[in-house]
Amino acid sequence: MSITEHESQDLIGRGELNDVEAILAVTNTDVDAVQHIVKDNADAIFTWDYTLSRPALRKLYEKAKTGQWNATTDLPWDTDVDLEETVTADQVAFSAGLTPNHYDGTVVAKWGDKEWMEFGIEQRRWSLSQFLHGEQGALLCTAKITETVPWYDAKLYASTQVVDEARHVEVFARYLEEKLGGGYQINAHLRMLLDDIVNDSRWDMTYLGMQVMVEGLALAAFGYMYQFTGEPLLKQLLRYVMSDEARHVAFGVLSLQEVYKEMSDAEIKERQEFAYEASVRMRDRFISQEVWNRMGVNTRDVVPLVLRDPTRAVFQQMLFAKIVPNCKKLGLLDRNDSWLRRRYEEMGVIQFENMDDTGEEYIKFELGEKLESDA
Ligand SMILES: [Fe+2]
Ligand SMILES: [Fe+2]
Repeated sequence: MSITEHESQDLIGRGELNDVEAILAVTNTDVDAVQHIVKDNADAIFTWDYTLSRPALRKLYEKAKTGQWNATTDLPWDTDVDLEETVTADQVAFSAGLTPNHYDGTVVAKWGDKEWMEFGIEQRRWSLSQFLHGEQGALLCTAKITETVPWYDAKLYASTQVVDEARHVEVFARYLEEKLGGGYQINAHLRMLLDDIVNDSRWDMTYLGMQVMVEGLALAAFGYMYQFTGEPLLKQLLRYVMSDEARHVAFGVLSLQEVYKEMSDAEIKERQEFAYEASVRMRDRFISQEVWNRMGVNTRDVVPLVLRDPTRAVFQQMLFAKIVPNCKKLGLLDRNDSWLRRRYEEMGVIQFENMDDTGEEYIKFELGEKLESDA
């Protein structure tokens, strides 16, 4: 059953999923801000039960301790990055797979090589900037989880993730500054999502929003860029980050599985709605409206075409390759008359439901392992 316009309004702030006007109306109006303050409504929980009673989380903690790396010394920062050269070589990874001849009737149709090159460079700056801001979101969220999760094993593990995320913020910020000549402010759709996650008082919502949704998407997107970029520093940076990120998603899946099994239908419905809202916000942010603006393009002309661009649709769907199987593993797809399954059908991403979930898959991402895309 599809949701009513009213329900949709409540959940995602618009009655229709593809309402372009409403998507574009959400913009970052404070691009010069250096601070953004969010109320973090949670209780900090001490536990006096120091027994390690969750073996899967304990194993993850041990893996995290031996999987540490040093961003300063383990990456080839002396690599010379020629932006025009790498953008040309990596088109598919960074133009988000646009079909140039799909934009007839707009100013984009008149673009020559120079404009597409500029767009490619801006798109790359923008993408890596949003990853940087998302990484800071993860840093704050895992510090919060360390405080709010009631289990000893999970507190230990979460503390290792705080260090991982600090390292991720460090590498993306440095790459943007040294190799790309600076980046973009946070996209407003992403900021709304991060605000909602930090704001929620229920500890499992931090996990669901960050570990399952934001990091699930990041793991898929990093994997895609890793596969298609020939820039050696970025490639290695992504490979290292992915080895951590796969553990992070596993942490979410392994922890929430236990909790969601015990929840009532009403409680699960709130989680399903939160997962849907997060999915839509992430999809909206990938429209990269700030890049179109910087290129002097009227987004109202172009975004409806972007949403229907056939090659871009493939990229868009791929972003959900980790989220959907993980939601399935958590029982979120099919509870309450398959409510979330229906939403993912509408979004065109349900086909990933039977792919590997990340509860075990993280081992395959360890440093030194060959990834499928390395072949
Ligand atoms: Fe991260
Ligand atoms: Fe992470």
